[in-house]
Amino acid sequence: MDGQRDWIAAETKLSRVDGIGGELLIAGDLLVDISEQPFEAVAARLLNLSFDTGWSEPGFASALGAARERAYERFRSLHSVLAGLSPIDALRAFVALRPEGDAAADAVELIADTGVAVALLHAEQAGLELLAPDSGKAHAADLQRMLSGGAADPAKAAALNTYMVSVVDHGMNASTFTARVVASTASDPNSAIASAIGALKGPLHGGAPGPVLDMLDAIDAPENAESWIAGELDAGRRLMGFGHRIYRTRDPRADVLKGALRRLGSLASSRLALAEAVERVALGALAEKYPARSLETNVEFYTALLLDAVGLDRAFFTPAFAAGRVAGWLAHAMEQSRSGALIRPKSRYVGAVPEGDDFRAAANG
Ligand code: ACO
Repeated sequence: MDGQRDWIAAETKLSRVDGIGGELLIAGDLLVDISEQPFEAVAARLLNLSFDTGWSEPGFASALGAARERAYERFRSLHSVLAGLSPIDALRAFVALRPEGDAAADAVELIADTGVAVALLHAEQAGLELLAPDSGKAHAADLQRMLSGGAADPAKAAALNTYMVSVVDHGMNASTFTARVVASTASDPNSAIASAIGALKGPLHGGAPGPVLDMLDAIDAPENAESWIAGELDAGRRLMGFGHRIYRTRDPRADVLKGALRRLGSLASSRLALAEAVERVALGALAEKYPARSLETNVEFYTALLLDAVGLDRAFFTPAFAAGRVAGWLAHAMEQSRSGALIRPKSRYVGAVPEGDDFRAAANG
């Protein structure tokens, strides 16, 4: 339905997605120019656009390090409540159980909580030690160390950092819209973030990278790509990691992540060759099937390879997305909250009516 596409839901200073030019601006900078900056520097700039915090990069890094220590204690105390949940459901529950406080302070705590929960849930699933944070480390480096039970690796930490910066904000995507809708009712940041995680979970949004890896596993070798992809498209199934609501060209994040993968060298090379072959075949098959629609590689395709090379289990790909996007969600929630506008669209009723009903409005709430 056309009415569900392309309408402007908000004005924002946070990010701009150019779907034709294939460019992404985050807090006024091109992603390609900032993709190797520390996550905390980019997150601080985003938050500064919505909150009155005026964070300097070192000030924010130090506040976030201290918040990671509190997040660790919270995680340990809630640990038994989360047992048995999938990683993304455990993350959503962990956020939902936070007590409400001051919005600006909550923002730092929520960024720390999300990252630390993902790292500790991952370590736990792998049977590794649940390590306490090192508040003096960079955020991504500390998370990489914790998620791998102490096997700190600067190359993997740098790749994880680039990933988190690449996904930190991206216009009015479904989960960001969700966060803004919740914030627009004057609800609290915890509720906005828990709701956004629920929206992110779906495979048409942030749930795609796990299935991308499943696809590569199923294809197994470049020579199988053509028949496997044709089978999927003939069966009416979507190829995960391709297509985007906004981009009519290549998602710029895909290339940033591909660059980060190349820098990982041998850690990533085995799957990279297969992935490039699959990408070529998939783009050709999609162009043939949908000649009028430009379906290109999206962020999730190379996310899958990068997070796999960093050592994350595929069940943690969507939670890792949340650990980066949470800063964008918070900045958007506050931007919305400050606008004072309640988001309340209308629907068009197409159901049964009593005899003689002559209601005329096209969109009627
Ligand atoms: N594989 C096969 N067919 C596709 C794909 C795909 N990946 N993407 C779109 N199509 C088809 C649609 O089914 C549609 O066909 P139809 O006209 O016969 O119904 C046609 O192409 C046009 O679709 P769009 O209008 O471009 O798709 P839309 O904007 O609604 O959806 C979406 C975008 C959800 C991302 C879609 O491309 C998709 O499902 N991709 C696979 C899942 C994925 O990679 N998700 C991650 C997105 S990135 C992110 O959210 C972080």
